Amino acid sequence: MVMALVIAACSSDSSSDGGEDADASDGGDSGESAESGGGGEGTVEIFSWWTGAGEEDGLLALIDLFEQEHPDITVDNAAVAGGAGTNAKAVLATRMQGDDPPSTFQVHGGAELNEGWVAADKMEPLNDFYEEQGWMDKFPQDLIDMVSKDGNIYSVPVNIHRGNVVFYNKQVFEDNGLEVPTTYDEFIEVADQLQDAGVTPLALGDKEAWTATQIFENILLGELGPDDYKSLWAGDIPFDDDRVVAAAEKFKTVLGYVNEDHASRNWQDAAQLVGDGEAAMINMGDWAKGYFSNDLELETNKDFGYFAFPETDGDFMVITDTFGLPKGVENPDEVKEFLSVLGSVEGQDAFNPLKGSIPARVDADESKYDEYGKDAMKDFNESNLTPSLAHGSAAAEGFVTKANQAVNIFVTQLDVDNLINTLKNAASEL
Ligand code: GAL
Repeated sequence: MVMALVIAACSSDSSSDGGEDADASDGGDSGESAESGGGGEGTVEIFSWWTGAGEEDGLLALIDLFEQEHPDITVDNAAVAGGAGTNAKAVLATRMQGDDPPSTFQVHGGAELNEGWVAADKMEPLNDFYEEQGWMDKFPQDLIDMVSKDGNIYSVPVNIHRGNVVFYNKQVFEDNGLEVPTTYDEFIEVADQLQDAGVTPLALGDKEAWTATQIFENILLGELGPDDYKSLWAGDIPFDDDRVVAAAEKFKTVLGYVNEDHASRNWQDAAQLVGDGEAAMINMGDWAKGYFSNDLELETNKDFGYFAFPETDGDFMVITDTFGLPKGVENPDEVKEFLSVLGSVEGQDAFNPLKGSIPARVDADESKYDEYGKDAMKDFNESNLTPSLAHGSAAAEGFVTKANQAVNIFVTQLDVDNLINTLKNAASEL
């Protein structure tokens, strides 16, 4: 089982991932005793899925800052390749079950943290640490709520990503005389024109199913509106609600506009189609902004533009990457030193401009962010905040896995009834 996961981790993402930091061999054969988690005295092991193009630059900048401030502590960058934690989460689960936690690990705020590791009693509460650091009023309350359960705070958010963004190639839009679509009908009109002009309207790389799930959740948000979208995940609206069925129908239509080789591409490979002008648009969380800027060296608002996913203007699909302190690590004080840097203004402003996300802190230095970042900060403050399913905040891992499987089947079969029934049957896991 562990070997299978390690092989999956190693073989994934080969097309665009440098891979040199992918330390998948830590996924179970570290040889430490069962009780001793973490990197051991003098070492902080940081577990994430940030390797390669568009993913690792922010993390490496944060690690640099930490090493400057703590030359006595060694960092073990234990990242396992695979977007949205496709492989990392499985490796992490094996380690946690074997009482061999990393010193700290990437986990989304919301259900993934609270219904997952906190509910399993695997995390230390960090309330006193937040007080010591003077952080209680430095993070938005909405975010603190996402990393809290029963009054205790369990992790430190490093960023806020937005999931309901469409990035587009400006030249392609200009060449075809197109305006950005704000409604679903406008989106279809634009997509039809692009298709007639021989351009792929929407890039998709669903080698990992979450990228398609992300499109579906944004259509659901548009169809239900923010309050009912949240009610859906709370189990208060059934999956056979007319609007959910309508969202599935729209999802089916939208899938008619994607590149044929979508199943063999990962998110970076798909975003590259937009960068190259082979495709016009992509719905991707704004880590794609980091990829466009850092890896493809494209300029914001010159080479690529962005708009809220049709029908979701005024809503902000929140994805927050957070790090906590697992129970049983050998050197909690050193781990807290890392969390202290990660939660500092300097740490957040080293990480986020490269990652494409905005700082989780309210008092970060706006001048460090480009126009995209500034717009996202404004939108975050003015929008309805909604949790992402594809990125673990809206529902517990068991449901997310089933939803990804159902979406993966839907992408080839396009069977609306089957998708609705499968989600309905999985609803008990919400
Ligand atoms: C998300 C994560 C982002 C980014 C993305 C693609 O789940 O929150 O930071 O890494 O996956 O891998």
